[in-house]
Amino acid sequence: MTIAHPARILVIFGTRPEAIKLFPVIAALRADPRLEPVVCVSAQHRGMLDQVLEIAGIVPDHDLNLMQPGQSLDGLTAALLTGLGAVMDTVRPARVIVQGDTATAMAGALAAYYRKLPVDHVEAGLRSGDIQHPWPEEVNRKIIGTMASLHFAPTATAAAALHRENVDPARVHVTGNTVIDALHWVTARIAAEPGLVAGLAALEQRFAGKRIIGVTSHRRENFGGGLEAIARAVRRIAARDDVALIFPVHPNPNVRAVMDGALAGLDNVALVEPLDYPHFARLLGLAEIMLTDSGGVQEEAPALGKPVLVMRETTERPEGVAAGTARLVGTDEDRIVTELFTLLDDKAAYEAMARAHNPFGDGQSSARIVELIANEVGQQA
Ligand code: UD1
Ligand code: UDP
Repeated sequence: MTIAHPARILVIFGTRPEAIKLFPVIAALRADPRLEPVVCVSAQHRGMLDQVLEIAGIVPDHDLNLMQPGQSLDGLTAALLTGLGAVMDTVRPARVIVQGDTATAMAGALAAYYRKLPVDHVEAGLRSGDIQHPWPEEVNRKIIGTMASLHFAPTATAAAALHRENVDPARVHVTGNTVIDALHWVTARIAAEPGLVAGLAALEQRFAGKRIIGVTSHRRENFGGGLEAIARAVRRIAARDDVALIFPVHPNPNVRAVMDGALAGLDNVALVEPLDYPHFARLLGLAEIMLTDSGGVQEEAPALGKPVLVMRETTERPEGVAAGTARLVGTDEDRIVTELFTLLDDKAAYEAMARAHNPFGDGQSSARIVELIANEVGQQA
């Protein structure tokens, strides 16, 4: 009698959001006897990645430790391509999983394609329609879409975008977004262990009675003028004494220099280090409004019924806007301030946005994805 060995699945990621969206997939892979996950992190991010690995209890099998301060896209991509290729040659997986649209995901898919390994793409089909926004992510995900074997689209809108690009519909599956799986998991963890979010207690006390606004910003296309305008808008918002802004600052030196320069020392603005996932989930809970250019936050905030003002001109996540919980406000200082003040001062405008709406998934996306991969492996055997 021959004993079937589980198929080796190489899971590749490198940044915070990929880690958040893949830890539930890794857990589901581990639970499936037909599959054996091997985890490779590029560590395109270091501290922010490690925060997620720690809370999720993941010890990578391979860690390329690639992050350089202020890294360039070409230098990073070159190192990723050779580094990830070498790991594939060692691991010799049956399939490779990448998530989203980062440099790590794009280079991982390309290195796999060069080895004729099938690539499964989690969070496939997001399109803003503008290759400069977000930059370079819109192109990264299009590149991955041309090579992927299975495309796991979070929504029907994302699946339709792939159909329009002539991807075989039989290879496209609407699974929901695994970020909702992650959010459910972390919410349950916090409920079971409230000490996980104790790190925000001092700020909660300091800002008691204030209306909390959560802020994040890191997009490369906003470096320079866009970030400066965002900083000026935050300064003007902070001139109100009924609000407090909690702003975990991305460690990219291009972001940090602008925000530290413009916002340090304001009584009601807390510039804090990146929060680990439980603390960020807590901030989402505390905040009356989120002001962000993040992709993931655009998915999480609607799920929690928190209005989100998106500091971008276009979005690849139109579902939140369609549902009314997200609004595009760009990076124009006046527009950001005006839209935010409207939400603060016009109860009806706020209530119209503050409805829990979850177009991004039901928390079962990882299970669906893993079942589809296992079926695919079964057909190949
Ligand atoms: C990357 C992704 C972006 C994603 C974002 C999530 C690309 C091209 N960009 O952008 O799609 O939305 O991650 O946050 O893949 N740094 C640290 N510590 C960290 C992480 C970053 O110090 O833990 C600093 C380093 O100086 C690093 C810089 O931030 O060089 C930029 O990191 P990088 O991954 O290149 O770009 P992000 O802007 O984070
Ligand atoms: N996040 C976090 N700590 C923070 C800021 C964000 O854990 O201080 C989480 C957030 O909940 C979301 C993800 O990081 O799941 C979004 O990452 P980011 O904004 O860096 O990247 P993007 O989603 O824009 O690619």
